[in-house]
Formats: sequence, structure tokens, C-alpha cells
Amino acid sequence: MIDRLAKFVRDTQIWQSVFRHGYPDNDRNQSLIMFSSVLLHLHPVKIRRSALRFRYTMCLGGLSAFMFLLLTFTGIFLMFYYVPDTRQAFQNIKDITSNVFMGGLMRDLHKWSAEAMVFLVWMHMFRVFMTGSYKAPREFNWGIGVILLTLTLLLSWTGYLLPWDQLALWAITVGTKMAEATPFFGYAGPWGQQLGMRVDNDIRFLLIGGTVVGQSALLRFYVLHCVALPVLITLGMVVHFWRIRKDGFSGPL
Ligand code: HEM
Repeated sequence: MIDRLAKFVRDTQIWQSVFRHGYPDNDRNQSLIMFSSVLLHLHPVKIRRSALRFRYTMCLGGLSAFMFLLLTFTGIFLMFYYVPDTRQAFQNIKDITSNVFMGGLMRDLHKWSAEAMVFLVWMHMFRVFMTGSYKAPREFNWGIGVILLTLTLLLSWTGYLLPWDQLALWAITVGTKMAEATPFFGYAGPWGQQLGMRVDNDIRFLLIGGTVVGQSALLRFYVLHCVALPVLITLGMVVHFWRIRKDGFSGPL
């Protein structure tokens, strides 16, 4: 009875328009199923069985990507309530935590997954290094990975300012003061002043839109945190995943 029902469903035009290939009972069908599914397509078509072992990757790259999805989902929720205005931001965060339905849960999930993503991306990089997976032909993907790591750290750092509490204000003041001491681009850094850097035109000024952390800084960090960096990370991940597929997965010998 169940078999007949399953066959009936599989024979409908709707089912066949979504799942174009049948049961993966031979090599050709297995490949076709990989090719025609977005999720399975992320893996190379041929892969060593040993490379699929959990203890080889510990799923660290996949978990990093999952954390990014979770951050996006909870972040969109937070955006419904948060206004990047120095007069409202702190109160908004308190309201989200205590008064909004499931707000505390969303905020905690956002915070914990942010910390987890930073940790997991570092660990993933460590795994890739320890298994020598950065060697040819995967050097380019290692480079993309370094960009992804930098963007992940920037994402975490820009989010730090948004609660607009004392910790946020002083953390970003210290962080951007470090930018001020950057060689060439910061007015207090080596060769900065020789290249015409001043307190009102150097890299710190560009970052915070002024000489002190205030309204312009909050707005800039908000736009970077909610739009620019997530878009760049998404593009980076697309290239990263595409290259994993094209380079083939390293896997233990
Ligand atoms: C947002 C950050 C990142 C995400 C979401 C991500 C995701 C992934 C995923 C899902 C894989 C497949 C295997 C696995 O799970 O380990 C992978 C492989 C790989 N990743 Fe990343 N990655 C990120 C950052 C990095 C970084 C920081 C590096 C190094 C600097 C890197 C270099 C590589 C390389 C070389 C491979 C191929 C590994 C192999 O063939 O064994 N990735 N990445």
C-alpha cells in the first residue's frame, strides 16, 4: 500500500519537475542526483570515502557556514527593533532583551553564534593547515579563506559597537585608535604625516566619520555590519564553495 502510494507520488508531474532523477542505484544516477541538487552539488561529484569521515574535517567549514546562516536569521529579527541612533540604540537593546517576545532568545543566539563563528573559522583554518589542504591546487581557496577570516573578524568587531554601551564605546575607541597608528594610512602611524595624513582625513576618520566615536560611527558600523560585510562574506563563500567543488576535496590518502 505504502509502496504504491510512494510510486504514485513519484510518478506525478509535480514530483518529477522537482526531482528529475530516480533512485541512486547506479553510478550514472548517483552522479545525476549530485548534479541536479543545489545542496549535494556543493560537494565534488567524486570524493574519497575517507574524506567524508567526520574526524577529517570535523565539519568545521560547514559549521562556520551554518553559524553565518543563523547570524543572518537572528540579525534580521533584531533589525526589526534596533535603530542606529545614539539616543535610542541602548534602550532598544534593553527592550529587545526584556520586552520583545523571544527577543532575549534571538539576541543570545546572535551573540553566541557570532562568538562560535569566529572560533569555528579559526579552527577550520587550523584543520586545513594541519592536513596540508592549502597546497596545490588549493592555494587560491586558501587565499579566499584568509579574506573570509578577515571579513568574519570585521563582522564581529562592527557588531560590537551597536549596543552603544560603555563597553562598546571604549572598545571601538581603542580599536579605531589602533587604526590611527597604521603605517601610511593613519596620521599617528609611521610615514602617515609625511604622506599628508591628518586627524581629519586618515583611515580612522574614514571609519568613524569624525574624530570621536559618535553618531556617524554608529551609522557607519551599522551599515557595514548589516549590509556591506554580510554581502561580501556571501560572495566570498560562493567562490569558496565553487572552488572546493572544482579543486576536488583533499581527503586523507
Ligand atoms: C566564513 C568562513 C569559512 C567557511 C564558511 C568555510 C567553509 C568551508 C567548507 C564547508 C569546506 C568543506 C570542508 C570542510 O568542512 O572543512 C571548506 C574547505 C576549505 N576551506 Fe574553508 N571556510 C571558511 C574559511 C576558510 C579559511 C579561513 C581558510 C584558510 C585560510 C579556508 C580554506 C579552505 C580550504 C583550503 C578548503 C579545502 C579543504 C580540503 O580540500 O581539504 N576556509 N571551507
